[in-house]
Amino acid sequence: MEHLGRLERSAYCGEISRRNVGETVTLMGWVDTRRDLGNLIFLDLRDRSGLLQIVVHPDDERLLEKARASRSEYVLAVIGEVVLRSGETVNQEIPTGEVEVRASQIRILNASLTPPFPINEDSNASEEARLRYRYLDLRRPPLQQNIRLRHQVCLEIRKELDQQGFYEIETPVLTRSTPEGARDYLVPSRIHPGRFYALPQSPQLFKQLLMISGFDRYFQIVRCFRDEDLRSDRQPEFTQVDIEMSFPQPETVYSLVEGLLKRVFALRDIAVSPPFPRISYQESMERFGTDRPDTRFGLNLVDLTGAFAETEFQVFRKIIEEGGCVKGIAAPAGVSYSRKQMDSLNEVVRTHGAAALSWIRKSPEGLKSSLPKSIPAAELERAAEWAELSMEQTLLAAAGPAATVHAALAALRSHLGALHRQIPHHRFDFIWITDFPLLEWDEAEERYLARHHPFTSPREEDVEMLAANPAAVRARAYDVVLNGCEIGGGSIRIHNESLQRTVFDALRISPAEAEERFGFFLEALRYGAPPHGGIALGLDRIVMLLAREPSIREVIAFPKTARAVDLMCDAPSKVAEKQLKELRIRLDE
Ligand code: AMO
Repeated sequence: MEHLGRLERSAYCGEISRRNVGETVTLMGWVDTRRDLGNLIFLDLRDRSGLLQIVVHPDDERLLEKARASRSEYVLAVIGEVVLRSGETVNQEIPTGEVEVRASQIRILNASLTPPFPINEDSNASEEARLRYRYLDLRRPPLQQNIRLRHQVCLEIRKELDQQGFYEIETPVLTRSTPEGARDYLVPSRIHPGRFYALPQSPQLFKQLLMISGFDRYFQIVRCFRDEDLRSDRQPEFTQVDIEMSFPQPETVYSLVEGLLKRVFALRDIAVSPPFPRISYQESMERFGTDRPDTRFGLNLVDLTGAFAETEFQVFRKIIEEGGCVKGIAAPAGVSYSRKQMDSLNEVVRTHGAAALSWIRKSPEGLKSSLPKSIPAAELERAAEWAELSMEQTLLAAAGPAATVHAALAALRSHLGALHRQIPHHRFDFIWITDFPLLEWDEAEERYLARHHPFTSPREEDVEMLAANPAAVRARAYDVVLNGCEIGGGSIRIHNESLQRTVFDALRISPAEAEERFGFFLEALRYGAPPHGGIALGLDRIVMLLAREPSIREVIAFPKTARAVDLMCDAPSKVAEKQLKELRIRLDE
């Protein structure tokens, strides 16, 4: 191996173009590929900016030797002159393809083992290998670009929020439990045996306290920790763009976020035109069956309950009498399904707890249907009419409790959208979902839980209903959704201690428990808390969508697996007996 000595890089590989012809440059990077033509050797040198072809001519035997010794992923310093390639050797595939560097000096700065997978655009290495050797995976150009994009996004966010008068303020990582609906990651205290810190699920209470402190406008690009089931858009630690402001209307938050997203999406020349449409939670559930709708395509849900209000069909009748509903989706015109295709559609709804789909199809011979023959034609006709079925169009319907039907049809809608190529993938459709219910009944716990978190303000006109009809109380909460992905959520907060206690009551958090968990915060509310509100945006999800990646793992430098494991450093890991002893922890194995 050789030393770097006093060498300094003069340019990045990817920046070299015909403008540099005639210049002598000093490059540093990794050997991407080597082609040995015997008397001529080509090396593609790679750094974070891209690839550049290095030519080693036969007139210098020492140089040839070094080039021959250089294997994939060796680290080199190369000095040479930039020359134009002859017409037939121009490579249109890469930005530096018009030029090459004729090496006059090569230093091999480090060797490399053969990498476990090729470091190129479309490595089809297993997810496991990629995460185990994440530092090599990160060398691949797509990941280099994603991480760079993430950096640029953060920079734009900081610039914009600074211009809008926000201060970036850090809040503690070792703290108390913050209820956001997931389990906490706990950290035992050595100095206080038997006591634990919790890692923040979000800085919710701290940002509210900062408003009480008078900072007026706060933001933080902050790591949050949630021990919950993982999916492609969920990690146990993830990053929020956390925002809070004093004296806002929901509109103040909407326009701030719209401006911010416009600026961020401009990084990829994606035009974002505020204001984003807004629909209530209720409307979103009725039209799409979900509170994070993908609004790039139709296939909206149709409520058919009324069409079957008088039905003799026992299955529907019972469901309707029990307060359930019958809803459907009209498949695109001209599409018909074989038995096998129906089986796979049924599979989609069954995984969401619904019974098999029924179908009604309009054909020249009249309506056809999978429903029992005993159902009067008038009922089917009414259903077809409500769904505005055209000739040869099929209506797929599910019946059951509303929550089940919505979940099943929302999944079916996404499935059909993809199956029938209804989704315009070039589009970025933002939407605000507003007026969420404040509370949500939890069967297992047999009590109401906060839909967002317990500090969300109810709508003023709904406060009275908190005791008698809690389920009907609407929150001053909003989510921002992009192409079916929830990219942010927030609310106007409770700033009044007595209302906060009333909401704790509705959540069956006793005064003693409230004091124990949130006493410091209730106390703070008594010292002139201003009206305040805000939002948190999911940074990983925003960058994922901007980079057109299918998972947030592709935009996080060191992500965890779906089982919350870091395969590279093997975390979580066992700890030494001594450490456990210091923490006074004994394992029950
Ligand atoms: P919420 O829980 O809605 O709100 O989180 C805000 C946004 O963070 C993103 N997000 C996640 N991203 C990746 N992995 C996860 N496990 C994960 N969980 C959430 C989502 C989500 O919209 N304190 C409130 C905000 C507020 O009220 O101001 C909060 O945390 O994009």
